[in-house]
Amino acid sequence: MRISPDFWVASGNKLGIEENPSLAQLYSSLLGTAVELETQREALAWLEKHIHRLDMSCSDLPVDPQNLNEWMRSSAQFVASQYAEYLQQRKDGGSRRYFSNRAHALYFLKAAAPTKLVDGAWLHGLLKHWRNTKFAGLVRIYIEELGDGNSGKNHVVIYKSLLARYGLDLPAEFDEDFYTQGLIQLTLASNADHFLPEVIGFNLGYEQLPLHLLITAYELNELGIDPYYFTLHVTVDNPDTGHAQRAVQAVLDNLPRLGCAKDFWQRVQVGYQLSNAGLGTQDIIDNFDINVEVTRIFQQKSSAGHNAHSDYCRVAGRHVNDWLSSKENIPEFLIALQKSNWIVRGAPVCKSRFWNLLRGKRAEMFGVFTSYELQVIHDWIRGSDSSDGQSYDESESQRPPAAAINFRTTQRQIATRGNPPHDFDSDTSEKLLLDADLQILVEKLLAATKDGQETMLVEVMSPAHHWTPAGLFATRMFNDMIM
Ligand SMILES: [Fe+2]
Repeated sequence: MRISPDFWVASGNKLGIEENPSLAQLYSSLLGTAVELETQREALAWLEKHIHRLDMSCSDLPVDPQNLNEWMRSSAQFVASQYAEYLQQRKDGGSRRYFSNRAHALYFLKAAAPTKLVDGAWLHGLLKHWRNTKFAGLVRIYIEELGDGNSGKNHVVIYKSLLARYGLDLPAEFDEDFYTQGLIQLTLASNADHFLPEVIGFNLGYEQLPLHLLITAYELNELGIDPYYFTLHVTVDNPDTGHAQRAVQAVLDNLPRLGCAKDFWQRVQVGYQLSNAGLGTQDIIDNFDINVEVTRIFQQKSSAGHNAHSDYCRVAGRHVNDWLSSKENIPEFLIALQKSNWIVRGAPVCKSRFWNLLRGKRAEMFGVFTSYELQVIHDWIRGSDSSDGQSYDESESQRPPAAAINFRTTQRQIATRGNPPHDFDSDTSEKLLLDADLQILVEKLLAATKDGQETMLVEVMSPAHHWTPAGLFATRMFNDMIM
């Protein structure tokens, strides 16, 4: 699904665009506070081109949409049997299927962020048409993606909290491919009138419970990483009364009755294929190479660090400032650190003098690396031993590795000590938050007509805003309005 540079030249000429934005730039523009018409046109042209390149031969959808319910049930049964097989393999002593160590799992959370941070976006364009009863199920799905305006249930807020909790910065450095899926979702959001069947088909594909969600949740928990974002989707997408069933019903409800439904159904199938476009879970997991990631981290630090070391800081007879003067030096620098025993691979991190600079009692480089970066360096140094899932700070406190105490067990232990984890269900704190946008929104709503209020609420429930205090407030108001 790679986008050829030729496309940008062609579409740029057609649209009169002088400089062609990258997918990451277009993604970022669509998430901006005021999306320009030209940006919407660029995104629309990009998606149309993308659709023309889809491989429609590998769809597993039934030929007749009336068989969708049966298709959904048999797909869910197949996933359940695959998951049971996976659990048995693990019970029999098999290793994790996805994450080789904790750094690998954190990398996945970071690399999936461009998609997860626009979760639900594809349905936003239908919100203003909520009076069409055929869209009732789709509008309900969107509002539930937004957590009914409850910050603890808003999927994007949950993912943002997950990133913050584990020190995962926004992935600005990723390749274009990482933005494809998120860009599709944002483009559908801002062009729903143009892509109605595709939106419905995309929703059909995205809301089915996939095997990778179950395995991801299981292995994150095992590694002591909060799996809530993923377990939430296991329950919410269930094929009985959940989003999966509503997605099927939305297709059946929206098939044209006054004309030929065949063309509409074909375009629904295109939307379904779009839900699988771009990098999937397995692609992102396969993309992780800890040597590459360590090199990238050191290269990123080199520009800040190349003048920060004293003259006496030398490795293999060369000043550290000199090693860090160019990103090209970093692979050789990492080898030099190992040869001179500053780093001892395949041993506990305390054996490495370099690690003690980062985390020792008199750590002279304390605070240079984020918690994610420390975990990557930690797992890289430990090598195959890192498969035990030990967190970098556990290795210092001599606590047992995370794999021995999974995330949920830890949470339960905290609760029984009389210090329960934050209860997101009762979190209504954003009502009381001091927030400039929330104040502005309330003032504007008070001054607006009824129609104006509705337009405003829909606008503030966009992917760019819905996770903010103003967006959550708007979601609650909108929810009350349509009930
Ligand atoms: Fe979601």
